[in-house]
Amino acid sequence: MGKPFIAGNWKMNTNYRSALGLATGLVEQLKGVDTVDSAVCVPFVYLQAISSILSSSNIALGAQNVFYEGNGAFTGEISCEMLKDVGCTYVIIGHSERRHVIGETDAVINKKVRAAITGGLLPIFCVGELLEEREAGKTEAVVSSQVRKGLQGIDAERVQAVTIAYEPVWAIGTGKTATAEQAQEVHAMIRGLVAELYDKGIADRIRIQYGGSAKPSNTAELMANPDVDGLLVGGASLKTEDFSAMIKTVA
Ligand code: PGA
Repeated sequence: MGKPFIAGNWKMNTNYRSALGLATGLVEQLKGVDTVDSAVCVPFVYLQAISSILSSSNIALGAQNVFYEGNGAFTGEISCEMLKDVGCTYVIIGHSERRHVIGETDAVINKKVRAAITGGLLPIFCVGELLEEREAGKTEAVVSSQVRKGLQGIDAERVQAVTIAYEPVWAIGTGKTATAEQAQEVHAMIRGLVAELYDKGIADRIRIQYGGSAKPSNTAELMANPDVDGLLVGGASLKTEDFSAMIKTVA
């Protein structure tokens, strides 16, 4: 198990003023906390401003999406190089909202994960089943297929850049958190799959975050599971107090 890793996903929230306030508050609250890796994944347009605020802190910067081509005629898209240029370390790829609202496929997500690694970014690669898939007993089939397809063509050396985030879609933004047992079961399955695709050493080291209504009150319970190495936090990452409390709980 690697160092715990807690990342905030601000999604399409905040404005210039509140984004700066949130980042400034986190820097203040998290001074000296260095036993946990932390990051905030902020809207593209605020990356540069947040980057300067975080530069004096241990909090890393991430984006919420990236395009897989290097440059050129791709109106509206953002490249890995651009993200690096404004100080990003991480990028979320394949979030369920991109899969199910925007329509990203496993193939597109795989291209993005590969491009991010090549471009020197650390992908937070998201997987997770829909409620109807869980109810139909298809969780393992869905999640393992997403992991296999998302990591296709990525060798053992390069996969070490990846964090996997297990986010059951029915738990995202719903207030309905997976139980610690449900999270642990899927995390252990994912780790077993990584061991099968690569080797046990890589599986032991790869970080697997849980996401889906993670908040201060369930942080300790979720993180107590042996295969939960961190959290990807949506709603609760928009409040300085909540997000910093979660990181301090883990620290
Ligand atoms: P949530 O979102 O914490 O608001 O459920 C998590 C995510 O989508 O990453």
